[in-house]
Amino acid sequence: MARRKISLIGAGNIGGELANLCVQKQLGDVVLFDIPPKESFAQGKALDLEQATAQNGGDATVIGSANWEDCAGSDVLIITAGIPRKPGQSRDDLVGINVPIIRDVADNAKKHCPDAFVIVISNPLDAMVYEFMRRTNKPPAQVVGMAGVLDSSRFSLFLAREAGVSIKDVRTTVLGGHGDTMVPVLSYCTINGVGVRELIAQDKLDAIVDRTRKGGGEIVKLMGTSAYFAPAASAIAMAEAYLFDQKRLLPCAAYLEGQYGYKDFFMGVPVIIGAGGVEKIVEIDLNADEKAMLEKSAKAVQEVVAVVKKSGG
Ligand code: APR
Repeated sequence: MARRKISLIGAGNIGGELANLCVQKQLGDVVLFDIPPKESFAQGKALDLEQATAQNGGDATVIGSANWEDCAGSDVLIITAGIPRKPGQSRDDLVGINVPIIRDVADNAKKHCPDAFVIVISNPLDAMVYEFMRRTNKPPAQVVGMAGVLDSSRFSLFLAREAGVSIKDVRTTVLGGHGDTMVPVLSYCTINGVGVRELIAQDKLDAIVDRTRKGGGEIVKLMGTSAYFAPAASAIAMAEAYLFDQKRLLPCAAYLEGQYGYKDFFMGVPVIIGAGGVEKIVEIDLNADEKAMLEKSAKAVQEVVAVVKKSGG
C-alpha cells in the first residue's frame, strides 16, 4: 500500500509541530503548505524535519510548498491557516481576518483534495469549520473541528495535578463551543472510574473548570501567541483515529443535525472517529445545569456563525 498523505495547510507554529509529530510517528508523507510569501519558510521547515528522520529511520517525505497541486490526493488535511490570537483578543475577534482565509483554503481543498478527511484548527474554530463545510459542500462525516480534545487535555492535566494522580488515569470530556462558554462536564469525569468529586473538593473543581475555560488565553498571555504543542498533539490523535480506524470516542466540533436539540452549526460533542470519519455523534445524558451551560455555549457559537453567514461569500 502506498504511504498515506497528510497535507498541513499553514506552516506556522501549529503546522510545524503537526509535521514534527507526523514525522516522529511516521504517519505518512507530509506536505507543509503555506502562502507564496511563506513558501521558502515552509520548505526550510520541511527540510529540517525530513533531516530529523535520519535519527528515527523513517522513510516518509516532507515537502514545503505554496502550490495546491502538491496537496492533491491527500488522505488527511489539517488546517491551521489564519492568524493566531494576540494578548487581549478573543477567538471571536479573529472572524474578519480568518473567514477570507478559510474560504480560500476551502475552494482549493475542494478542487485538489476532494476525498480528504479534514480537521480544522483555525479560530474561531466553530465558525471556521462551519464555513469550510458550507463552502466545500463536503459530507459532515468528512469535516471536523479540533477543540474538545485540546480542552479536555487541559482539563485532565489540571485534575491530575490537583488529585496527585497520573494523567493516564484521568478521563474528561468538554462539550460546547471552543471559547469561554465551553462546558467541562464534571459528571462524566473520572479517575479510572472513580468520580472526580470523590477525590477533589468542589471549590478546587470550580477553579479547575474556570482555568480550563480560559486555558488558551492563559498561554496567549504568557507567550504573546497561541499554544501549539497541545493543539498539534490533539489534532494528531484525531488524524490517527481516522487513519488507523481506531473508533476513538473523542470530544470534537461536529456538524449537528438535531443532536442535543441543535442543528445547522458545529459544536463540541462526543464523536466516534474511524475510517468513515465522524462515524457517530454520541448523545450523553446531561443534568439540568450542564444543559443550561450547553445552551449558553450554543448561543455564543450561533452568534459567531451568524456573523460568518452574514458576511456572504
Ligand atoms: N493558505 C495557507 N496558509 C495560510 C493562509 C492561506 N490562505 N493564510 C495564512 N496562512 C498561514 C500563515 O502564513 C501562517 O504561516 O497560516 C500560518 C499560521 O501560522 P501561525 O501564524 O504560526 O499560527 P498558529 O499558531 O499555527 O495558529 C494557527 O490555529 O489555533 C488556531 O488561533 C489559531 O487561528 C490560529 C491558527
